[in-house]
Formats: sequence, C-alpha cells, structure tokens
Amino acid sequence: MSQQLRVGMVGYAFMGAAHSQAWRTVNHAFDLPLSAQMTVVCGRNESSVAAAAAKLGWSEHTTDWRSVIDRDDIDLVDICTPGDTHAEIALAALAAGKHVLCEKPLAGSMADARAMVAAEERADVVTAVGYTFRRSPAIAAIRDHVQAGELGETTLFNGRYWCDYACDPRGPLSWRYKGGPGSGALADIGAHVIDAGQFVCGPIVSVSGAVLSTQIAKRPLPLGAVVGHDAGPVSDEVGEVENEDAAVFSARFASGLSASFSVSRTAFGMPNGLAFDVFGLGGRASFDWHRPAEYLFDDPQPEARTRGARQVIVGPQMPYFAGGYPMAAPGVGSGNAEMFVYQCRAFLDQIVGTPDPLPPNATFADGLHTMEIIQAVVRSAQSDGAAVAVPTS
Ligand SMILES: NC(=O)c1ccc[n+]([C@@H]2O[C@H](COP(=O)([O-])OP(=O)(O)OC[C@H]3O[C@@H](n4cnc5c(N)ncnc54)[C@H](O)[C@@H]3O)[C@@H](O)[C@H]2O)c1
Repeated sequence: MSQQLRVGMVGYAFMGAAHSQAWRTVNHAFDLPLSAQMTVVCGRNESSVAAAAAKLGWSEHTTDWRSVIDRDDIDLVDICTPGDTHAEIALAALAAGKHVLCEKPLAGSMADARAMVAAEERADVVTAVGYTFRRSPAIAAIRDHVQAGELGETTLFNGRYWCDYACDPRGPLSWRYKGGPGSGALADIGAHVIDAGQFVCGPIVSVSGAVLSTQIAKRPLPLGAVVGHDAGPVSDEVGEVENEDAAVFSARFASGLSASFSVSRTAFGMPNGLAFDVFGLGGRASFDWHRPAEYLFDDPQPEARTRGARQVIVGPQMPYFAGGYPMAAPGVGSGNAEMFVYQCRAFLDQIVGTPDPLPPNATFADGLHTMEIIQAVVRSAQSDGAAVAVPTS
C-alpha cells in the first residue's frame, strides 16, 4: 500500500473547490507512491466549513488554520485563501516542517513574498505556487515548440487575460477590489498570463508603457460571504475600489523578445479569456483558453500554395495528457479540472523525488518574480510609462 500524505487545506470556496476536486482524483488517475488523504479543511464560519467538508470530501473541518499547522498528522498545507493571508499561513506551515502548496499571487506584499522565498530556501520540504496554466497540454506543447526553435527566432509575444466578472457595478466589494495598485486585475488574472508568457518564452527582464485604469470606482458592500467572482446580496452602502480594473504594458524577455500584455476584469463578454500568440521568423503558435483543447500552429510547410495555420487538437501525444484523462484519446477535450489534478500529481512527484517526474510546479521564487513584474508595471504606470527593470534573481 502506498504511503499516506495527509493534506490540510485552508479556504474552501472558489479555489478550494477546485483543489478538492484534484485531491479527490489524483490517486485515482495515477499510480503514485504517495496517497493523498483529505484530512482537514479550514474556513472561518463553522457551519459553512462543515458543509464544505461534507460536500468536498474532507474528513474533518476547523475554523482555526493554526490548529491545522499544529497537528503532527498533517504533512501538507494547501493554501486557498486571499493573497494577503498567504504569507502568515505559509510561513507558519514551513516552520512546522509541512509541504506547502499556495495559490497565486504568492503574497499580498513584496516583503511577505520575499520572506516566503527565504523560508522556501531554508526549508527541507516541497513548495509550489498554483500557476495551473503551466499544466495545460496545449500551452506546454507551445512551450516545447518555442524551446525547440520550431518557430525560428521569436519576434513577438502578445498575451492577454480578459475577463468580465467586474463589469456589473452592483458586483460586491470583495477582497478582490482591495489593496493598492497592482492588486486588482494584475494580481488576480494578469499574474497567470505573465507566468504563462514566462513559462513559454523565459524570464521577463523589463516592462514599459504601462497604463492602469479603474472603470468602476465604488462598489456596494457585500451582505454575506462572496465566493470567487460571484455576485451576491449587497448593501446600499458603497466603498472605494482600491485597485485597477484593467492594465496594459509592454515587456522585454531576457532573450530580447518584445511583448505586449493586456489584462482586464471589465472586458464584456469574456468570461475567462486567457490567450496569447507567439510569433517567430519561421512560425506562429496561438492559444485561447476559450478553446482549451486546441491551439493554432503555423510554419512554412508544406508550400506557399496551401500554407495556413493548422488547428492542433490536444491528445495523448502532448505533455500533461497521458494518464490524466478518463478517456485517453485525441479530441476528448482538456479543461480546468485536469490542470489542477496534474498540479497535485507534480507536487506528489516532487515530494517523492520520482525519477523523471513531471516538470515541477512553479516555485515561491517564480511567484516572487511574477510579483516583481507586477510591481514594475505599477511603477511604470506611475512614471508615465517609463521603462522599469525587473530584478532577475
Ligand atoms: N489558480 C487559479 O486559477 C485561481 C483562480 C482563482 C483564484 N485563485 C487564487 O486563489 C486564492 C483564493 O481565491 P478564491 O477565488 O478561492 O477566493 P474566495 O473568496 O472564493 O475564497 C477564499 C476562501 O478563503 C477563506 N478564508 C479567508 N480568510 C481566511 C482565514 N483567515 N482563515 C481561514 N480561511 C480563510 C474563506 O473562508 C474562503 O473559503 C487567491 O489567492 C486567488 O488569487 C487562483
């Protein structure tokens, strides 16, 4: 029988549900030497967390995250709470010798993020940040094309993450609208497309031309708990939105490749529009999350007369497909749930040190670098679009 890995998860709402689905599935999708046990889930409200534990499949529940960390029978802490709570929980978990899987963005402040990276470096456990798009078979395949030089010298990356969850001015003033510049659309969704860009094309070293904007300056206060991007009952009282609804900026990768990014949570009609194009002198690849089971690939084959982009449908020939899909056949699709399962699998592989494991998850250091890029974007916006270097270490 495989060895048990006892998981305690903090936060059970939007992301907590996705992580729970992955923990429930990972040992049923793959043969792994570690068996994840969904031991305890934590939230702030007793009756809500009890209901969540029953629904999501956790054996126990608690309202105190410190009690999760104090337990000797917890090996891994999975953090699915708002960004500004990550550091305190992660630092305590690492100090107690637990493995830590933390949702993005890494932290609510640069100081907290740096403390987490320092703790990661000291700790003899596995740490990861939830940049799940790295586990998309299509995105990983595009990365392979770029890294194998199959597009030729790369010439342009254009990335965007357009969502519409903030279009309704009656949407409640949840934690997503609080914090300074950079903590809005940039941290919530921009972080994903920045990480995806770096996953495909390598590190970003500078940004420029940033413009941040907020279309809806005040929002009604929520009357109860808000889950994810949901609407919900609101008060007649309003509060200030403290961060950006949208951002655009240019960037340069270490390779010299130039890029443009645009991010918005007020892009009408775009429920979850992460997409990017990467061009080279001899090819192009394009991905759009609204069509997650495919990507476009173009190169000079076979001849000018019939040249054109090909729709490549993901299947078992791609990274992050084999073993993770109930029907291992081309064209069965690929979605969000599978990416979270692969994230858990990679985490378990990393703990065991499986020979030839999946490429590892993003580290806290990767999470800090993404935050440094977002901070550079904010500084560029505050100085009329000036170029701002991003620390490379
Ligand atoms: N990887 C992704 O695709 C993705 C998608 C959405 C959100 N996220 C990230 O996941 C994290 C959570 O976002 P969400 O949308 O699930 O938020 P949410 O508001 O839906 O849920 C937050 C959860 O945290 C709990 N919580 C808050 N403070 C707590 C505390 N002090 N102690 C215990 N529990 C506490 C709440 O009870 C709730 O269960 C954020 O960092 C967010 O950026 C990642």
